[in-house]
Amino acid sequence: MQLSENNTYQIQGISPSELIETYGSPLYVYDGGTIRRKVAELQEAFSSVNMKIKYACKANTNLSILRLMREIGVELDVVSPGEFEMGRLAGYDAGQITFTPSGVPFHEVKEAVEAGALVNVDSIPLLEWFGKTYGSTKPCLIRIKPNVAAGGNAKIMTAHADSKFGISVLLIEQILEVVNRYGIKVIGLHQHTGSDIKDAEPFIQVADILFETAKRFPDLQIVDLGGGFKVSYKPGDEITDMHLLGTKISERFKKFCAEYGRELQLWFEPGKFLVSESGYLLTTTTVVKEDPARNFVHVDTGLNHLIRPMMYGSYHHILNTSNPGGTEKTYNVVGYICETDTFASDRTLSEVRPGDILVMLNAGAYGYTMSSHYNARFRPAEVLVDHGSAKLIRRRESLKDLLGTQDGL
Ligand code: LLP
Repeated sequence: MQLSENNTYQIQGISPSELIETYGSPLYVYDGGTIRRKVAELQEAFSSVNMKIKYACKANTNLSILRLMREIGVELDVVSPGEFEMGRLAGYDAGQITFTPSGVPFHEVKEAVEAGALVNVDSIPLLEWFGKTYGSTKPCLIRIKPNVAAGGNAKIMTAHADSKFGISVLLIEQILEVVNRYGIKVIGLHQHTGSDIKDAEPFIQVADILFETAKRFPDLQIVDLGGGFKVSYKPGDEITDMHLLGTKISERFKKFCAEYGRELQLWFEPGKFLVSESGYLLTTTTVVKEDPARNFVHVDTGLNHLIRPMMYGSYHHILNTSNPGGTEKTYNVVGYICETDTFASDRTLSEVRPGDILVMLNAGAYGYTMSSHYNARFRPAEVLVDHGSAKLIRRRESLKDLLGTQDGL
């Protein structure tokens, strides 16, 4: 979102008020140019090694976003049969999709494998089942838990010793015993540390653990280091220095490949890094309440559309795009749900009046995909702005969508 010369906020030349006028409020808007830029930045940082991006589409599964990713050469990481089907609908070959389950029913794994996807095996029982079912006829990757704690908050750390994800690296002998007993064709090792990780250090630490573990497997083609790069939610936030990370990890990866005796592929599966910054939640101010304790700005959205602030205490920057440069005042920005759904406390904004359009930044990842029907509210529409024009990529919901699968209609 940029402030243009005539002091109006714009996304590729289109103002939030034009978007709301055309598509209604509230509204998710994605800037395709930002996604292209983030993909290029990651590719550039790892250009000296054989690197592949597998977009963790749980961040944003809109089919138009998936299609855009496919067009620019990004492959897919999915966590459910639903995400797998969406990937297929977006035009991905099953072979370009990796299924990274977390304790799912084994029939889901069977369906994915038999459709042609690669699977990250995440438990010893699943590894046993995989060996029994496929022997050496199907390849797989194994998800290792490296026992490293990193991430923006406790809920999004996934590689520490107490985390439910993956198979502990301490169980390596047991893993190898099962692999050898069935002759399982392990072609890659995988790990995912967590989300919102700024420093290069934890990435280096887990890479070293994975490279060391990889030496125990003779036929690897892939090392997958997961996602988790930090983005800038707050003005002044330090983000993952992708150039530095690229240089450091690539150096180590090359050394590892030389020791391993073969050039492997290095995979990453970011979600946030690729799509967070591209997304905006546009909302309209309903009521400005000057309470003795606080000034409340009520908006026509809530935790049903963007739950990150309430679930993780996450900061999302907010702009009053209807009053750029106005007198600054301090507000609590609150939603319309019958819960305390506070988007921001004591936030300084240019003076807000009823009808003003507020824009929440960094709403492209884990925004719409974590939305719900709570309070029997419709989900917003979604719009993609690309090459200077806006396109509706998901219509606003209606009563039919709310009632959906219910009996007794
Ligand atoms: N790979 C695996 C196996 C994952 O579990 C995840 C995220 C990713 C990749 C992508 O991580 P990212 O690059 O997006 O940080 N809802 C939370 C984030 C949960 C992430 C879950 N797994 C949030 O809004 O902060």
